[in-house]
This record gives sequence, C-alpha cells and structure tokens, in this order.
Amino acid sequence: MSDTETQSAIVVGASSGIGEALAREFAASGYEVGLTARRREKLELIGDQLETQAYVAKMDVTDTEDAREGFRELADAMGEVDVVVLCAGVGYENRDLDWEQERETVDVNVRGFTALATAAMARFEQQGGGHLVGISSVAAHMANGALPAYPASKAFVSNYCDALRYRARNLEADVDVTTIEPGFVDTDMAGGTFWMCSPETAAAQIYRAVRRRKRHAYVTRRWWLVAGLLGLLPDVVKRRLFA
Ligand SMILES: NC(=O)c1ccc[n+]([C@@H]2O[C@H](COP(=O)([O-])OP(=O)(O)OC[C@H]3O[C@@H](n4cnc5c(N)ncnc54)[C@H](OP(=O)(O)O)[C@@H]3O)[C@@H](O)[C@H]2O)c1
Repeated sequence: MSDTETQSAIVVGASSGIGEALAREFAASGYEVGLTARRREKLELIGDQLETQAYVAKMDVTDTEDAREGFRELADAMGEVDVVVLCAGVGYENRDLDWEQERETVDVNVRGFTALATAAMARFEQQGGGHLVGISSVAAHMANGALPAYPASKAFVSNYCDALRYRARNLEADVDVTTIEPGFVDTDMAGGTFWMCSPETAAAQIYRAVRRRKRHAYVTRRWWLVAGLLGLLPDVVKRRLFA
C-alpha cells in the first residue's frame, strides 16, 4: 500500500494485552488505528491516548454477521485499510471438557477469526491490496489434554493463514498474510512464565514482522526451538507430557 499517505491498521481484540500494545505500537509509528473488541470503554480510553487518529468499534466476534458488518463500517470510516490484525482470542484450562468453555474457544478463535479474516480479505481484494496478520500461538504445534480446544483452535488459525497466503498468489490484489505464533506473553491469558515477554516486546516484534512482510514469526523469536522440538517428539512422549 501507499508509503506516502498516512497508513492505517485495524486491530481486532485491541482492548487489552497484545492487541492493546500493538495498537499503541502502530500509532507510535504513525498509523491511524481502528480498535475493536467488546469492552468499548477500554477501547475509548486507549484511543484517547494514541498519537494518531483512533476509530473505535464495539464488536463481539462470535456475533459473526454483526461483527462482519461492523468491520465493513469501520473500514469505510477509515478509508483504505493497510493492515488488519486478528488478535481476539480466549483460552481455558478445561480438563473437565466443560462445553461452554470449549464452545466459546471455538466460537472466538475459529468461527470469529474466520468471519473477520474473510471480511478483511474481501476488503483487500476490493481496494487492491492489504496485509492480514493472524495471531496464532506456539500452542498450534501441540495437543494438550489440559486444554483441548485452545491449541486445536490455534492450529486452525495457523493453517488457515497459510491457506490464505497461498490463495493470495492467484489474486490480482497485492495481499500479504503473516502468521504470528507467540510463546508466553505477560497478559491475563498467559498460560506460563517460561521465556515470557511483555506485551510491548511482543508488539514491537509483531510490528517488525509486518513491516518486513514476513510470512511467519515466532514471538519471541527463540520459540522456534520449542515449536521445532514439539514437531520431533514421538507420540509416546507427547502422551506423557501433555496428558
Ligand atoms: N498471552 C499469551 O501468552 C499468548 C500466547 C500465544 C498467543 N496468544 C494470543 O494472543 C491473542 C491476544 O491475547 P492476549 O494474551 O493479549 O490476551 P487478552 O489480554 O485477554 O486479550 C484478548 C483480546 O481478545 C478480545 N476478545 C475476546 N473475546 C472476544 C470476542 N468475543 N469478541 C471480540 N473480542 C474478543 C478481548 O477483548 P474484550 O474482552 O474487550 O472483547 C481482548 O482484547 C489471543 O489470540 C491469544 O490466543 C497469547
């Protein structure tokens, strides 16, 4: 997209954690930012603190038709949208297979993600280009009996982003797709403290990956080692580690 005009980014799931830090990072780098999530007051508070113009849209991604419509209205209000980051996500430890928690995880991380990813791609194809960023997780590389739905939902996100990137080769529009797989980031959702980084560090690394139009990035970078090891472990070991 244009380097001379002011650039713009929409962050879905911008009310806390990585999404909030990323919205601040984009604004500090001169982007106008569209902030969406369910907690409007938090979004407005964050928007008021940004150096650039902020647009706020309340959105529950599980209400997919409403969320897609809200996305289109937000994109129209902002004009051309250069980057869309899909960061909204939930995750629960759920050994008891509580249906509500499994359902919400699939609803937000899979159904909601796909609803917004397809809306963003349609927008990019209509305007001639754009950059989709999917926030997945290193957990996409594992199955875990303690939290069955979350890693499975993130495997969907990573795989779906790959598919959109492959598909983009056939488009006339200039569309990039970046998959971000964070390890532990110090937010309400963090599942551990090992190699944990701050949301600000995560945001800076994600922003750098976007500017470099990378296809994929681990955040922080050394998590490639964990993902690689997980791929090498035999099933008999994984069954013991992740029972
Ligand atoms: N923290 C980690 O260690 C870690 C590691 C790997 C990947 N990730 C991924 O990073 C992303 C951000 O998570 P985080 O760690 O920053 O946690 P967080 O602070 O809890 O942020 C989650 C964001 O998702 C939004 N959200 C949740 N449900 C939503 C819904 N139904 N509709 C719209 N927005 C919704 C929340 O906003 P509202 O509640 O206001 O709606 C919030 O802005 C997630 O996709 C997560 O899976 C995190």
